[in-house]
Amino acid sequence: MSTPVTLIPGDGIGPGITEATVRLLAAAGAQIAWDPQLAGMAAVEAVNDPIPEATLDSIRRTKVALKGPLETPVGKGFRSINVALRKTFDLYANVRPAVSVLPGLRYDGVDIVLVRENTEGLYIGIENYIKIAGDPHAAAQSIAVVTRHGADRIHRYAFEYAVRHGRKKVTIVHKANILKYSQGLFLEVGRHVAREYEGRVAVEERIVDACAMELVMKPERYDVLVTTNLFGDILSDITSGLVGGLGVTPGANIGKNAALFEAVHGTAPDIAGKGIANPTALMMAACQLLDHIGDGERGQRVQRAIEAVLRERTHVTRDLGGSATTDEFTDAVIARL
Ligand code: NAI
Repeated sequence: MSTPVTLIPGDGIGPGITEATVRLLAAAGAQIAWDPQLAGMAAVEAVNDPIPEATLDSIRRTKVALKGPLETPVGKGFRSINVALRKTFDLYANVRPAVSVLPGLRYDGVDIVLVRENTEGLYIGIENYIKIAGDPHAAAQSIAVVTRHGADRIHRYAFEYAVRHGRKKVTIVHKANILKYSQGLFLEVGRHVAREYEGRVAVEERIVDACAMELVMKPERYDVLVTTNLFGDILSDITSGLVGGLGVTPGANIGKNAALFEAVHGTAPDIAGKGIANPTALMMAACQLLDHIGDGERGQRVQRAIEAVLRERTHVTRDLGGSATTDEFTDAVIARL
């Protein structure tokens, strides 16, 4: 039986890399009933709304979506698409795997999954200016909010992820030595959740600055990382950089009632429509999606085929130093399945 999945091709290179990804999954025998929907500029042009109700309804129905990059219209009063999706579906966990697959990089042997809390912390949006002596912008404050509920579900997600994927260790990344309340609560809840996994998953704690240094000195020592919103935002770009950048980085946004899988890069307007975009990140996101819908073995098979083609380097796209088109790369991956 096919699993219904919402498909948002998106803007710029989005439709091209989405088509390549759908073709790859079909060749791998995945049983998916795609429900194509609009978002981004494509949706603005069609229905004057970057995130139409029909798209949200589709995700409500399927509970899972594969999304190409979207152009968020700037300064036209449209709501931010990513914020709308995150809020509508309470997508609290951002999951970014970073695996060394490209040869010849500075680092080898990196295999990290970063789990970032996606709904609270310093990004909760409570900010204001403070007026002093007639200067309305004399000071500004941004408030970080960590709740027991929010911390509990993200730690639990990280530990469950570790168990399900045979991972050995979860590192709780924090700054509780300075931010004793908000970060302190995050760490306290993490320790509490970790106890339930004793004997199954090892736990360690790292202060975020020490973690950042170790990530660039000996990244191979890390396995699963769990952290708050701002730290996760920064560290996840470091982990992407360790393995070759955004072109090879997929991302998942997980909530209780919906999950959204995407490439982390943008719409690449400079190469849109030329058929030379690298579909790797979206393809890897599709592998995460297969795992999520209970077809993990197929997901691993597809992932291995992608990695094999990247390692060979003979059929890679221009951004990775090759000359293959999107279609030629896709054909090479399909041939390796
Ligand atoms: P970008 O990621 O689109 O492009 C940066 C550079 O990387 C460009 O030179 C581009 O050609 C290259 N690149 C990116 N993905 C590539 C791929 N798959 N294959 C080959 N080359 C690739 O970032 P930029 O230029 O800052 O943003 C462009 C648009 O994308 C903006 O409208 C932005 O809002 C949107 N964006 C959307 C995201 C999303 O929907 N998740 C994330 C980031 C940006």
